[in-house]
Amino acid sequence: MDSHLDDQLIIRRLDRMHASACAALHATGFLHPWAEAEFESLLLAPEVCGGGLFLPDAMGQSVLIGFVLSRHAADEAEILTIVMAPSHRGRGHSNALLQAHIEAVAHIGATCLFLEVDVDNAPARALYGRHGFEKVGERKGYYRRPDGSRSTALVLRRNFVSAPDSGKSK
Ligand SMILES: CC(C)(COP(=O)(O)OP(=O)(O)OC[C@H]1O[C@@H](n2cnc3c(N)ncnc32)[C@H](O)[C@@H]1OP(=O)(O)O)[C@@H](O)C(=O)NCCC(=O)NCCS
Repeated sequence: MDSHLDDQLIIRRLDRMHASACAALHATGFLHPWAEAEFESLLLAPEVCGGGLFLPDAMGQSVLIGFVLSRHAADEAEILTIVMAPSHRGRGHSNALLQAHIEAVAHIGATCLFLEVDVDNAPARALYGRHGFEKVGERKGYYRRPDGSRSTALVLRRNFVSAPDSGKSK
């Protein structure tokens, strides 16, 4: 079901038809982008849940400007990726997208949500911190930087002990 954030922004569940748009957006946010075929198989997998943020363009066509994917197994879920189009970053859109996704994942039975984030990724860490994710581990040397050096992945978890709220208060 669509969720309207305002008159224009809509959060909608993703399906395989969005694989190409996901691949294009993913390439704007990551050094090692995933191929369209990878997104297609992820979006076809029953254990994968995808939420997209759509905005109408000048012609009124709905354009994907951000998305989040997670995979669930038993009562745990893991965020596989989240990305916002560069021209739409810093406006709180990812806060809204992630909050809707947390609610969707909790709704399908997950009791906690894991993810990995580069210790150097300040915007992503701010986003996850705002939504109550806490560090439960780290993987040193997990990511490769453009210069060939390595950075640490933080493993974060958010437990759903009660109904998901609207994020941690500041
Ligand atoms: C991470 C990402 C999805 C955040 O998207 P966004 O739409 O710009 O985020 P929002 O505007 O909703 O802001 C989320 C929080 O991050 C903070 N933030 C945004 N940009 C920031 C920056 N450059 N430095 C520090 N904090 C930042 C915001 O202040 C906000 O925190 P607040 O609600 O406590 O004020 C986006 O930067 C992105 O697509 N990055 C590339 C892909 C990526 O790194 N994904 C995460 C992989 S783990």
